Amino acid sequence: KKISIAIDGPASSGKSTVAKILAKKLGYIYCDTGAMYRALTYLAITKNIDFEDEKALVDLCLEHRISFEQTEKEQLVFIDRAQVTEAIRQPDVTNAVSIVAKHGAVRAKMVELQQMIGRAGGVVMDGRDIGTAVLPDAEVKIFLVASVIERAQRRYKENQEKGISTDFETLKKEIEQRDYLDSTRKVSPLKQAVDAVKIDTTGMGIEEVVKAIEEIIST
Ligand code: C5P
Repeated sequence: KKISIAIDGPASSGKSTVAKILAKKLGYIYCDTGAMYRALTYLAITKNIDFEDEKALVDLCLEHRISFEQTEKEQLVFIDRAQVTEAIRQPDVTNAVSIVAKHGAVRAKMVELQQMIGRAGGVVMDGRDIGTAVLPDAEVKIFLVASVIERAQRRYKENQEKGISTDFETLKKEIEQRDYLDSTRKVSPLKQAVDAVKIDTTGMGIEEVVKAIEEIIST
């Protein structure tokens, strides 16, 4: 039977890396909900829309189509017909996305889209509120955490591999800031579902985390 797997956790906790590998192994769909909030934020930036203007942000959701395309190598993100996979990872988007994501009406729209994607099962979905709000009936719920230093180190290494030079302290501050905004917002704050299994991945390798989740799935 095809099940639903919800993977939640703070910024840079390794969710998407692990979720992608799991989806591939299981032959499931992978849905990166953070990418959807990022795409909306990117749209708001390009259209010069105020991040506090909830109604204008909801209108953007209604006027445009955010979608994914799975290739052999990676998951591509589209807004209408434009590919924005790289653009939504830029610092201007990263630094604004938590503000866009705090609005209740924006989240309601996003959750609706995500539930449509997840409805049939056979999905690995990662985000902040998957186990609590998007797929509350998911058969498997995982909550990934890692120390701030570890997460900043992972980001630093990732950036290095991409040839982007970044300052470690700045990365650490950005992660702390996003943690703060994501966990203190009034609507759907980052919170572990009561029936989620928490895995602290500090000092763990990716394969180790994947294995731990596979064990949880098989029990
Ligand atoms: O996972 P990622 O870091 O790409 O997510 C970007 C931002 O989108 C998060 O910092 C959070 O503000 C928002 N987000 C959210 N709910 C989700 C996924 C992401 O609010 N389910």
